[in-house]
Amino acid sequence: MIILGIETSCDETAASVIKADHGDLKVLANVVSSQVKLHAKWGGVVPNLAAREHLKNIVPVLKKTLEEARVSISEIDLLCVTQGPGLIPALLIGVSAAKTLSFFWEKPILGIHHIEGHIYANFIGVNPKSQETNSKQIKKSKNPKISFPILCLVVSGGHTQLVLMKKHLHYEIVGQTLDDAAGEAFDKVARILGLGYPGGPAIARKAMEISNLKSQISNKFKIQNSKFKINLPRPMMNKKNFDFSFSGLKTAVLYDIYPVKSAKGGPVTREFNGARKHPNKLNDKNYVAAMAHEFQQSVIDVLVSKTLKAAEKFHPKTIMLAGGVSANQELRRQLGEAIKKKFHPVKSTNGGSAVQKFNGVNKIKYILPEIKYSLDNASMIAAAGFFRWQKMNAQQKKSAFNNWKKIEADANLKLK
Ligand code: KG4
Ligand code: ZN
Repeated sequence: MIILGIETSCDETAASVIKADHGDLKVLANVVSSQVKLHAKWGGVVPNLAAREHLKNIVPVLKKTLEEARVSISEIDLLCVTQGPGLIPALLIGVSAAKTLSFFWEKPILGIHHIEGHIYANFIGVNPKSQETNSKQIKKSKNPKISFPILCLVVSGGHTQLVLMKKHLHYEIVGQTLDDAAGEAFDKVARILGLGYPGGPAIARKAMEISNLKSQISNKFKIQNSKFKINLPRPMMNKKNFDFSFSGLKTAVLYDIYPVKSAKGGPVTREFNGARKHPNKLNDKNYVAAMAHEFQQSVIDVLVSKTLKAAEKFHPKTIMLAGGVSANQELRRQLGEAIKKKFHPVKSTNGGSAVQKFNGVNKIKYILPEIKYSLDNASMIAAAGFFRWQKMNAQQKKSAFNNWKKIEADANLKLK
């Protein structure tokens, strides 16, 4: 089965062709035209500008995708498009293009939830051969077997959720952010630190400077007494529920840098966790790096801690990461290490295997999307569409040829 996916929910115009072969999802073409440079000037995505760019790019992106995939229109079995959530002016371009193709090509079409797409990015084949642009070169790839129940930590620019999946396409949100999403916090803190847009990769790069420094210095004493002793809070980390809150973290960063007015109106030097207000903090590259590192670590600590707690309660067989923030290398690494430490069997010193059982679960698989499928792309939309199609009966499949009449972009589409 060959599926064409289209995604325009935010600032990437993306199209993809995937081939489902014995349940293995192989990407024949994955084209993403990013608008990052355009929006960087404004410090964030400007919806109307995004729409104009999508309009300019959608046809060239589709043309390139079909050329790279080397499939003819007649070979395409299904169209899938991001229906929401996202920016309405942006969503409309992809949805209109997909509906038009569905009508003229006489193909069935499905509207896909963007976050469902992020989750299903984990099901895309991992064999590098599957990324070949020539379909004839594709070898059979083996997807890692993914067992249910799955606990998926969704971390993107608009969402932070812990989603429990007992079976395909079945979502129970067991925890979510009460305010800002993790990616949004990265973007806002990057703006405060003058690191530009998008904030996630910029903060990760800055934080790396400190990580590199730490690995060079073996004497921990020196680090603890380094010039900048920043201790940000770990919001809601010790709360019993699985919810998150990141807006206070952004405020904590702000207060560490800027003075606040006293009640009488005069400026005061704010003391925050022992760090005295430093008038030129933002001019000090070391401070910016130290703050980026501490902020990133605070977000990771909370995400990892809540995911492990949810795993203790819900006993998943698989833990997954999804969404743009899942491109963060430190999050990928630290969550993996924490899962390994807590849930995997440990070797006993006498050579035997001392299986560390945890509530009957002695191993949890940890699955990550490839970085290019962590960020917005259309392969994930086609992948989710494949699983939806599989679940449909003959009548539903037939009526999907007329779905172009019904599908509407929905900025607030709910995951169900
Ligand atoms: O999933 P995504 O591409 O778009 C949405 O669906 O929102 O996620 C974008 C978010 C942005 O907030 C961006 O700053 C963040 O993902 N992001 C990262 C990294 N790469 C992208 N956050 C942390 N570290 C990264 N390496
Ligand atoms: Zn996304």
